[in-house]
Amino acid sequence: MIDFIDNKLHYLYLNGNKDRNTVLLLHSTGGDEIEMIDIARYLYPKNPILGIRGRVQENGVINRWFKRRKEGDFDIDSLYREEAILIKRVNSLISELNLNPRLNVIGYSNGANVALHLELSNQIHFEQIMAYHPMMIEELKVSINDQKSNIFISHGEDDPIVPDENFHQLLGLLENSGHNLEIYEFNGEHSLTNEEIFTSKKIIKNELV
Ligand code: MLT
Repeated sequence: MIDFIDNKLHYLYLNGNKDRNTVLLLHSTGGDEIEMIDIARYLYPKNPILGIRGRVQENGVINRWFKRRKEGDFDIDSLYREEAILIKRVNSLISELNLNPRLNVIGYSNGANVALHLELSNQIHFEQIMAYHPMMIEELKVSINDQKSNIFISHGEDDPIVPDENFHQLLGLLENSGHNLEIYEFNGEHSLTNEEIFTSKKIIKNELV
C-alpha cells in the first residue's frame, strides 16, 4: 500500500492486476482515501485501487469533494473546479503508475454524487459505478450516451439527507442517458449497510473488469 500527499491531494494506491479496470474510490463527507478500501477489495479483489481524498475541508476538518452552503445547497462552481482537479490527477496517476485507463468507481454519499455527476456531465466515463446513497446535485440536460455504464445505485427510503423525490429525479437523468441501472431501495437511512454492499457485489459480472 502506498499513501502519498501530493500537491495537497492525498491518495492511496493498492496494487492489482493492471489488465483489469482501475478502481477509483470517492469517499463520503468526513471520509478519506482509506474509507472504502475494505469494500473495494471485497468488490474487486484483483484490481488496482486508487483512493483519493477530496481537497475541500468543511469547518477546517471535514473532507469533502466540493463546497456547500448548507445541507443540500451546493456550490456548483466549486463542484466543477474540484472535478477538473480530480480528473487531471486521476489521469496523471494512471500514466505514472502505468494503470489501465478503463475505470470503475465506488462512491458513497458526497463521493457517489461526484461519480454520477462526472458521468452524467460527460467529463469522465466509468465502466462500472457503485453509487451508495447519492443525490441529484445539478439539473443537467442529458441525452442518450453511446458509452454506457453499469450502475448500482442504492437509497434508504427514510434517508433524512436524500429526499425520495430528489433520488427519483436522479434516476430519471440516469435513465434518460441510457445507462444500465440496478436500483436498490431499502428500508433504511443514509448509513451504508452490509446488505447493500453484498447486493452490489452480485451485479459485478465475472468478466475482466
Ligand atoms: C452531499 O454531497 O452534501 C451529500 O450528499 C450529503 C453529504 O455528503 O453529507
